[in-house]
Formats: sequence, structure tokens, C-alpha cells
Amino acid sequence: MKKQADQYLTPFFSELLRYLEQGKTGFHTPGHRGGISWGERWQPTDLPKIDLTEISGLDWERAKNDAEGLAAEFYHADRSFFLVQGATQGLHAAMLGCFNPGDQVLIARNCHSSVYHGLILADLFPVYIDVDYVPGWGLPEGVNLIALQQAVKDYPDAKGIILTNPTYQGIATRVEDFRKIIGERILIIDEAHGGHFDWWGKPDYSAYKAADLWIHGTHKFLGSLTQTGFLHLKGTRVDPEKIDRSLQWISTTSPSFILMASLDLNRAFLAEKGQALFNRSLNQVIELKLACASMPGVRVLLDKDIVSRERTVDPWRLSCSWLGTGLTGYEVDQVLREQWDIQVEYADYNQVTMLLPPWQPENDLQQLVEAFQKMAESNTGKHQRDPLEFRMPVGPVEVAPRKIAFAETRLVTFEAAVGQIAAEAIAPYPPGIPLVGPGERITREMIEVLRNIQRAGGVIRGMNVRGEIKISCIEDNHG
Ligand SMILES: Cc1ncc(COP(=O)(O)O)c(C=O)c1O
Repeated sequence: MKKQADQYLTPFFSELLRYLEQGKTGFHTPGHRGGISWGERWQPTDLPKIDLTEISGLDWERAKNDAEGLAAEFYHADRSFFLVQGATQGLHAAMLGCFNPGDQVLIARNCHSSVYHGLILADLFPVYIDVDYVPGWGLPEGVNLIALQQAVKDYPDAKGIILTNPTYQGIATRVEDFRKIIGERILIIDEAHGGHFDWWGKPDYSAYKAADLWIHGTHKFLGSLTQTGFLHLKGTRVDPEKIDRSLQWISTTSPSFILMASLDLNRAFLAEKGQALFNRSLNQVIELKLACASMPGVRVLLDKDIVSRERTVDPWRLSCSWLGTGLTGYEVDQVLREQWDIQVEYADYNQVTMLLPPWQPENDLQQLVEAFQKMAESNTGKHQRDPLEFRMPVGPVEVAPRKIAFAETRLVTFEAAVGQIAAEAIAPYPPGIPLVGPGERITREMIEVLRNIQRAGGVIRGMNVRGEIKISCIEDNHG
């Protein structure tokens, strides 16, 4: 390890202060925007004081049960559990608590990497389900319902399905559509980016309408502190005791009471002011999107772009493409940051994504529109670029991800990888969903897609600087 020169230095803390001093306007997670979404009841000076733990003088257990009960009622669940290790903790507990080792589970191909890790922890056997892509954007828009129907027929023993709804870019599918297809199987919805669709009159897109178990990453948009979220249960298909047990297996024995308090305060804040805030800001964000969409060369992701008419885009999430002005998403991210003091949530070649929670100060929105206007004016007439669009082939998994995770691996070139079993997920950006999952056999078609993405300037996670990928040696031992 590199020797540190001076123990009085605080590189991490100092970097945070350096960033804050720049006074950037953020349109990213966490969505609390400096604590607006906790309400006035919590002053920043309270933080160190409420950093308490499971001491005898504190009736924390009763208080936690009461707070989780209120959350269950608020989010239409039968039972809710606080999460203080991210939506990841909820997904892992769900996978450990709903299934048995070796169970076959349908997994939407655009699931977050934590689901891929959960397959290893819970020793589940995935059947990946293809997703639809938004034409001209290279973005996943949701599970392909015909592929889901086919998978249910082909894999009658599959015990359940895990899918993401809404997507990271806020595209949501009506949840009843999933239930109709999967019947009595367990439906787990990763609603990390949702939880607010009721408030603009779209309850049919909310997990509670059909899921057995769903997870909220409330820190992302709804406004609690980073790492917090909820695991919610409804109905009788999932055993709450098994979920409780699984949470204990994977959770710290010293959960932060600061984080739990932020969940409690945020729920109370939303109960008191949420509906009014969302009502007030709906037209404002729609107008902002339409104003951006009318700028030369700028495209904004709207309902009309989505293949399936049954889907809708979250108004409080702004994804826009500047390829018409010649700017990639990476360049827009850089220009906004360096010239306009604006920080986006996510950028890839095709687009940038930003979060606009209803409590985002109005000045911030004005600053964003002005920056966009100036950028669009100065880039008009520049050479347009085409979006990168790829269909990710979905192949059958040949070896369980857990077996692969503990087997030897080696690095090989793209060419040498054809026909081998992938040792880890390979995820190109765009679209940021794994092209290959651990345990899948790598085909020539997959390698061609990777090559094209690389040539076009996309970023590939799961590939090293020499352009090599990790394959499993599991078959070498048999051969
Ligand atoms: C769809 C989705 N699910 C789960 C997660 C994991 O959430 P967390 O970072 O809260 O663990 C993320 C994180 O970005 C996500 O986008």
C-alpha cells in the first residue's frame, strides 16, 4: 500500500469540502436537496446528538416498529422494513427470503448489478428476460412482455420474477401487466426509483398494485438520507419471518439511527406535504421539459418516444439527448459542470439524466433552462451525431452464478472469449445493462455488439484497459 505522507490530512473529507465550495447546482441523487425533504423538525445540529444506538434507556424497538407500521400504511404495504444499506440490502434480503438455493428465477435483463450479486449470495439460477429499448435512445424501457410470456411457458418451475420498474430513466410499465402473465409466482419489483407515481394520478404504475414484495430506494428521489430505503410486503405469497431472518443475515448489528430517523421524518414530510408539492410542481416540470424539447438539436425523453403505449415517463426525471447539436452525453455533462456549475445524475454517449424533485428550488430550474438555451444556441449548426443503438442478445445461463463466482478465472481477448463461460457481468454504457451475465456462454454475436460499442466510444464495465474480459476456468477442470 502507498505510504501516506501526513496523518493530519483528511483526503476524503477535504475532497467533499472542495466540491461543496464550488457551489454547484445538483440534479442528482440524493434527492433531499440539502435536507428540504426532512422538514423543519430536523435541524442539521441534531445529527451528532441523535447518533444513538441500542441502549437500555432508549425505547428504540417499539419506536422502530411504530415507524415501520406508519411507513407500511403510507406506502400501501402489509409490512415494511427500514433499510439502511441501500436498496441493495432489500434486494438481497428478498432473494434470500423468497427463494431456496438452486431455485430458478426470472430476471429482467435490465436489473441493477445488486440483483446479479444477489444471485450469487442466494445461489439462484437466473433465466434472463429480454427488455424493450426506446428507439433512438438506446435505453431499456422495461421487460418485453412477449418474452416474459414465453419464459413462463418455457420455465414452468421458475419460482418468481425480479424486475425493475420504473427504470433508471423513469420509464414505468403498468404492474398488472406483469401479474397477468406470471400468475401465482412471486413478483418482486425493484422500485428503487419510484414510490411517487400515485401522487400524479398514476397508481397503476406503482408496485403495491401487484407485487408481493417491493423495494424503495427512498434516498434516490423521495428525499431520505443516502443508504436508506424500504422493503415492503403485501399478501401471503412471501413469509415475513423469512424476510426478517434474511435481513438479519446481511445487516449490520449497529444500524445508524440517524439514517432510520431520516426515513421516519421523510415519510412524515411526504405524508404532510407530498401531495401538494407534487401537484404544484407537475406542470412546472412538464413545461420545463417541453421548453428544453423545443431548443434546436435537443431531444427530451417523453411518452411519445416509448415503444409501448402502456408505458409512461416520470415527469420529475429529465433525460435529454444533445446528439442533434453534435454533443455526446459525456460532453454535455462536462460543459454543464465546467461552464454552468450544474451537476447531472448520469451521462452516457447518447444522453444525460437529471432528477428534478418537487422541492428543487425554482432558481435551480431557471438556471438549468438558461444554461440549456445558451448551450443550444452556441451549438446550433454543428455536425449531428447518430445515437448508439444496440440490441443486447440474451442467452441461456449454463452454470449457476454462485458456482462461477468461486471458480478460477482468467483474462482473455474478445476473440478468445467466444464459446467460453463469462465469469462476471459485462455491461456497456449505453445502455448500462449487462450484455453478458456471470455463467452465460459468450457468443460471437455478443462480442460483435461489444466491439461496435467500443468503436463508437461507449464505455464497457467488465473489460480492463487492455480490452480483456474475465472468463471462468470452470470447464478447463473438466477437460
Ligand atoms: C434500479 C436500481 N436498483 C437498485 C439500486 C441499488 O440501490 P442502492 O444504491 O440504494 O443500494 C440502484 C442503484 O442505483 C438502482 O438504480
